[in-house]
Amino acid sequence: MRALITGGTSGLGAAFARALAAQGSDLVLVARDEERLHAVAGELAAAHGVTVDVLPADLSVAADLARVAERVESADDPIDLLVNSAGFGVHRKLLDPDVAGRRYAIDVMCYAVLVLSGAAGRAMRARGHGRIINISSIASWTLQGHYSAIKGWVRTYSECLANELRGTGVTVTVACPGWVHTEFHERAHIRTSAIPAWVWQDADPVVATILDDAAKGRIVSIPGWGWKAIRIGLKLAPTSAVRAVSRALVRSRD
Ligand SMILES: NC(=O)c1ccc[n+]([C@@H]2O[C@H](COP(=O)([O-])OP(=O)(O)OC[C@H]3O[C@@H](n4cnc5c(N)ncnc54)[C@H](OP(=O)(O)O)[C@@H]3O)[C@@H](O)[C@H]2O)c1
Repeated sequence: MRALITGGTSGLGAAFARALAAQGSDLVLVARDEERLHAVAGELAAAHGVTVDVLPADLSVAADLARVAERVESADDPIDLLVNSAGFGVHRKLLDPDVAGRRYAIDVMCYAVLVLSGAAGRAMRARGHGRIINISSIASWTLQGHYSAIKGWVRTYSECLANELRGTGVTVTVACPGWVHTEFHERAHIRTSAIPAWVWQDADPVVATILDDAAKGRIVSIPGWGWKAIRIGLKLAPTSAVRAVSRALVRSRD
């Protein structure tokens, strides 16, 4: 078994790498920071006796993305599990005329997911087995600007891909976590002091649930009963209430 994980050096991606290496899976890790990639790869290889390859790449750069897609689709040393975890928070206003940051976010969190999932889907379908895990967010059911729009796309796209691959032996699982302790919030300069401690989850149990759901062939994975309940609340609540809660969440970051 070999898994390729984008964003495999930090947060959820690193937790996938730890969990899969502990299960004896060989890995290919993708991220921009080459030094950190080698450090994480060395630690996992030493701890679990697995082979960990590194593929430094900025997924917003066409040539880098093409190299990663080629590795995903390669028939030599096939990839059995693709995890698209690379991502970050975005909270520029939608009306901000400088769209470069939002374009970058679409490139990394939508376009790269489209290209890599397509490459994995084709290669896995030809072999008759494989798994794809894409990381969306509970924010995909809220209206928190560009980030919600991106994660909404990831969720809908992944569910469509699961439908397209139904019956081929290839499963697609889209994970929709709530707030998880990672580098995400610090990197995006998101103030977290107002977020109650009880809503936070640690990356390792979140990833254990996602891997379990993926093994069961579940298409949508929401780790944690609290977040499952919040998802049901968001589904049952009037849209006007979801809009109001979303506005309050966005205001809390301004
Ligand atoms: N943490 C949460 O509360 C939470 C909740 C729901 C969903 N999510 C989603 O979970 C995913 C993982 O986030 P995280 O919380 O684990 O954040 P994190 O700890 O900041 O990890 C982000 C990872 O993505 C990589 N990355 C970022 N930009 C990249 C690029 N342009 N090209 C290649 N790799 C890139 C980073 O490595 P380099 O910097 O070296 O490139 C790092 O390995 C994201 O898609 C995020 O939207 C997070």
